[in-house]
Amino acid sequence: MTQSEGEKKKVILTCAQPTGKLTLGNYLGAVRNWSNMLENHECYFGIVDLHAITTPAHPATLRQNVFDCVAQYVACGLDPEKSHQFAQSHVIGHTELAWVLTCLTPIGELQRMTQFKDKAAKLGFKTAETEDGEVKFSHEGARPQASINAGLLCYPVLMAADILLYNADLVPVGEDQRQHMELCRDLAQRFNHQFSDTFTIPDAFVPKTGAKIMSLTEPTKKMSKSDENERATLYVLDEPDQIKKKIASAVTDSEAVIRSTPEKPGVSNLLTIHSALSGQTIGELEEHYAGKGYGALKEDLTEIISASLQPVREKYHELIKDKAYLKSVLAQGAAAAQKRAYRVLGKVYRKVGFPERERT
Ligand code: AMP
Ligand code: TRP
Repeated sequence: MTQSEGEKKKVILTCAQPTGKLTLGNYLGAVRNWSNMLENHECYFGIVDLHAITTPAHPATLRQNVFDCVAQYVACGLDPEKSHQFAQSHVIGHTELAWVLTCLTPIGELQRMTQFKDKAAKLGFKTAETEDGEVKFSHEGARPQASINAGLLCYPVLMAADILLYNADLVPVGEDQRQHMELCRDLAQRFNHQFSDTFTIPDAFVPKTGAKIMSLTEPTKKMSKSDENERATLYVLDEPDQIKKKIASAVTDSEAVIRSTPEKPGVSNLLTIHSALSGQTIGELEEHYAGKGYGALKEDLTEIISASLQPVREKYHELIKDKAYLKSVLAQGAAAAQKRAYRVLGKVYRKVGFPERERT
């Protein structure tokens, strides 16, 4: 996409939950790609604390996590001079628009969301689809105190509101968010059709390499910060000795051939990480490692990961001590986001028929 002079910059928006520590999956599948887009786009990055309370969150931890998150973003290369980083709870409009969209969303569409079903399953609920496509939840086997809160169900609508509130053109997300993006596009179209043209229909932007980094211990599963096995997940703030231990214990197979194939998920994942950080293609790596053992690959990979993350780690430790700076980043981000958000929200409110409020 080229940009002729005077042409408006495309708006990019993406968000992530403030879960504390960014994983290598977040870095390679998300944050690093965002920082490459700052020059040619108008960029908004939301830290979605409203989404964070759909699962139990400790207040003090949540608050600290928001700051940890900004510090890691900036450390990973998201320059606050060239982007707007904001906390979702600081901007009026996300929940307001989410409510309007909720009233355009059939419950069944939300119950069929893969991520919702996964989260329900984690609480011990069983789901089954009836012949007419309705999703039923059975308490049988669920933890005694477990219940599914309505926030978990409405999560994707709030996400759609995050995006549509800014009339974003492009939304960089990982593979796992495709279904949520489809719902967002459907809702935008539904609103435009029912009222009149209001929302830009956003496109998902899913990077090719590193779009999905897998768990180091169960490489058929996504690398995730909620994994109970601490050897499964690499964090951008991991120290070199932790990186070494985790890569050393990463699951491979007994074949001792370094090739990327679906039958070799562990080795494929290591090659994906290598390729994403070294810039070499998988083909080049397979050639380079022909006849070599897994030990050699793991040794090189440990080096590459440690070296790539060192500047991120150093910058983070410097920034996290400076709360005033982090607060100023969020304040500037929220001011810019709010300006844009009010424009879209005002338009939406008028179109659905809410009376204009007179200023006294
Ligand atoms: P989350 O950690 O689930 O809030 O995700 C934040 C962003 O990182 C989203 O764009 C995800 O799609 C992306 N992401 C999370 N885990 C991975 C992974 N293992 N591989 C690639 N991208 C990921
Ligand atoms: N659901 C996204 C995730 O888990 C986070 C998210 C919330 C998001 N709102 C968004 C991502 C808006 C992109 C745009 O990764």
